[in-house]
Amino acid sequence: MEKWMGGDMHPSYRILMGPGPSNVHYRVYQAMSNPIIGYLDPQILACMDEISEMLRGVFHTKNQVTLAISATGSAGMETSYVNFVEPGDVVVIGVSGFFADRMTQVASRSGANVIRVEEEWGKMIDPEKVIKALKEHPEAKICGMVHGETSTGVRQPLEEIGAYCKKKDILFVVDAVTTLGGYEVKVDDWGIDVCYASSQKCLGVPPGLSPITVSPKAMDVLRSRKTPVQSFYLDLTLLAKYWGTERVYHHTAPASLFYALREGLQIIFEEGLEARFQRHQTLGDRLKMDLEGLGFKLFAQEGYRLPMLTAVVLPDGMDDVKTRSRLLNEHNIEVGGGLGYLKGKVWRVGLMGETCKLRYIHCLIGALREMIP
Ligand SMILES: Cc1ncc(COP(=O)(O)O)c(C=O)c1O
Repeated sequence: MEKWMGGDMHPSYRILMGPGPSNVHYRVYQAMSNPIIGYLDPQILACMDEISEMLRGVFHTKNQVTLAISATGSAGMETSYVNFVEPGDVVVIGVSGFFADRMTQVASRSGANVIRVEEEWGKMIDPEKVIKALKEHPEAKICGMVHGETSTGVRQPLEEIGAYCKKKDILFVVDAVTTLGGYEVKVDDWGIDVCYASSQKCLGVPPGLSPITVSPKAMDVLRSRKTPVQSFYLDLTLLAKYWGTERVYHHTAPASLFYALREGLQIIFEEGLEARFQRHQTLGDRLKMDLEGLGFKLFAQEGYRLPMLTAVVLPDGMDDVKTRSRLLNEHNIEVGGGLGYLKGKVWRVGLMGETCKLRYIHCLIGALREMIP
């Protein structure tokens, strides 16, 4: 038999302390082994209803259109722009990291005229600066922000920007890929119109789904488009007809992932949102303290550090690639390297969902202590 044609695959049980994916609860794996059923089977439709209802809970929203796109977080980002942008629309985006930059690319590929509000990586963007840009561009249709910038570990305050967008009828798009399930995301209270996330970070589910919620105001904007949405797969009108009461076939439901998300959300509500956020905060603080104790420097601006993702500058003389591969190969621990200009200089250490446990902090710090002379 040819070498590539046989044999079992046994991926190692890693401690996933990178920027995601995070570890998956055994109950989620068990849920995934349930039998596959059809995309219009009443049982899968009931499962989807439960997912929508629980997602409304984590997003803190009453939005009817709250569903999970059958693709990773990047698809949530694409959905947020391809549905609402028509050629030439002005979109203002706050940029102080890799994923916000990606957002500008996605918006501009959707046909938008993008205005970037830049800030140095590692700093939050002053909401006043974003509001100033929106005032300078009163024709702006959308304002986009990343809540948790995974490249820098910064948490972006959103409320002031959301309040301004609400007053001016601007659609407020928020990337909550890193934060949802680990930090509060108050879609309705913060005036967010479109908010997307991904399954594999603080929701503790394998990658492959992108939860999204869309306000009635955004759905009205969508319905009044002059041009059809370019993407069939990500067309929210069609998705809403499948997830809503009409139940019109749109694509084949990835049943195993839906079972997984349903179970992951149930686990979240069993723990309680407040308790979960507190766990991320307390252990995130502990990780930061321990890493500083080893000579790492915190990269993100004080007061705006994410609990679930800590970006640290490496101590002098530490070899990025060698140390991370030793962590992986000798200790089964994954941590993330830097993105963009931070490559080789910064690590991104995640404590997301199921991985957010004191024992994993001990594993990482213990392993590092052995390596640092
Ligand atoms: C803030 C942010 N947005 C978007 C993405 C893209 O999500 P995905 O990798 O699930 O496509 C990521 C991935 O790490 C992210 O951290």
